[in-house]
Amino acid sequence: MSTTTYNNPDLIFSGKIPEGIVGWQSPSNIALVKYWGKKGVQIPCNPSISFTLNASYTETVVEYHPTANKKWVTFYLDRKINEGFEKKIEAYFETIEPIFSFIKQLDFTIRSKNTFPHSAGIASSASGMSALALCLCSIEKEHFGIEGSDQDFFKKASYVARLGSGSAARSLFGGVVSWGQIDGNHNSSDLWGTQQVKDIHPDFLSYHDSIIIVDAAQKKVSSRVGHGLMNSNPFAAKRFKQAQSNIIRLIKAMKDGDIETFINITESEALTLHAMMMTSNPYYLLLKPNTLQITERVFEYRERTGIPVSFTLDAGPNIHLLYPNRVRSEVKAWIDSELKQFAFNEMIIEDEVGEGPVRLSI
Ligand code: DP6
Repeated sequence: MSTTTYNNPDLIFSGKIPEGIVGWQSPSNIALVKYWGKKGVQIPCNPSISFTLNASYTETVVEYHPTANKKWVTFYLDRKINEGFEKKIEAYFETIEPIFSFIKQLDFTIRSKNTFPHSAGIASSASGMSALALCLCSIEKEHFGIEGSDQDFFKKASYVARLGSGSAARSLFGGVVSWGQIDGNHNSSDLWGTQQVKDIHPDFLSYHDSIIIVDAAQKKVSSRVGHGLMNSNPFAAKRFKQAQSNIIRLIKAMKDGDIETFINITESEALTLHAMMMTSNPYYLLLKPNTLQITERVFEYRERTGIPVSFTLDAGPNIHLLYPNRVRSEVKAWIDSELKQFAFNEMIIEDEVGEGPVRLSI
C-alpha cells in the first residue's frame, strides 16, 4: 500500500459479505488562514489553518449490507431522504473505490444530522465529509483489522475526507489544525490535516467563536466555483505566497500568545478571501451591509475598550467573532446590546475550540 494514495486492491471481502452499523460525530472548523484555490486531485494551492469547533458538528450513522445491486446509497438528512446528496455521495464513493475496494460489495443507508440549523448558512461539508470518512475507515478497521495507531487512523480519515471536501481534512483533529504543505514545516502535508497544538499558548485552545448569522440563504456561488476562479485571478500567485508567510507568522503568534498579531493576520485573511472573490472574473460579492456594520463595530469596540475581539469570515456574509475565554462575559454583553440587531432573526451560534471527532456508541 502506498502511503501517498492509500489505494489498496486487497480490501475486498472474499467470504461472506458482512452487515453492520457504525457512527461518528465530527465537528466543523473555521479557517484562520484560508484555503482558496486548488489543483489536481484536491490539492490546495496554499496551506490553511483552522480552529476545530465544538458545538457545530454532524452526526452520521452508516448501516451497511451486502449489495442487492438496486440502490447503492440511501441518504437521510434530518430524517428526510435527500436525493441531491445521494448522487453526490455516490460520485464520491466512485472516486474513493481504489482506497476502499469493498465499497461496491455493500449498500449503504446513511443518516446524518447537523447541530447547527440548516438555515444558518454554515457550510456543513467539513463536518459532514469528515464524519462519513470516519465511518468508512471504521468499517475497514472492523473487517480488515489493519494494525495501526489512532494517529494513523485519523490521518487516513483526513486523507479520505479531503477527497470529499478540502476543508474537511482539517476536521479530524482537535484544537488548531493545518492542511497543506507549509514551507519548512515537516509536520504538514497537502494530503491530510495535521494537529498543530504542540506548544500553542493555552489562550488559543479555549478561544470562543460566536457566529453571527447575517444572512441564512444558500450562497449564490459555490466554493467549488470560487476555487476554480482562482485559476484566472490576476492576484492568485501573490495570494498563495502571502498565505504561506501568514501561516508561519500565525503559528508563531499562537505559540507566543501574541493576540495582536493573531488579530492582524486573521482579519486580513478574511478580507483577502473576499477580495479574491471581488477580483475574480466573473466577479462576485458575498458580503452584506450588515456584515460591514458588524466589522465597523468590531474595530470601534476594540479601539475603545482594548478588548481583543476580532472577526473572520468564511465564503459567505456571516461573521465569526473570535475572542479569548477570559473576556467572554464582556464580549457577550456587547454582542447582545450592539450586534444582535444585525443578525438574521437574532440568530447567533455560540461555539468555541473543540477536541475533535467522537465515535458514537450504537
Ligand atoms: C472559504 O472546503 O468548501 O471555507 O474542497 O471544494 O469542498 P471544496 O471547498 P471547501 O472550501 C472552503 C473554503 C473556505 C476557507 C477554508 O475553509 O479554508
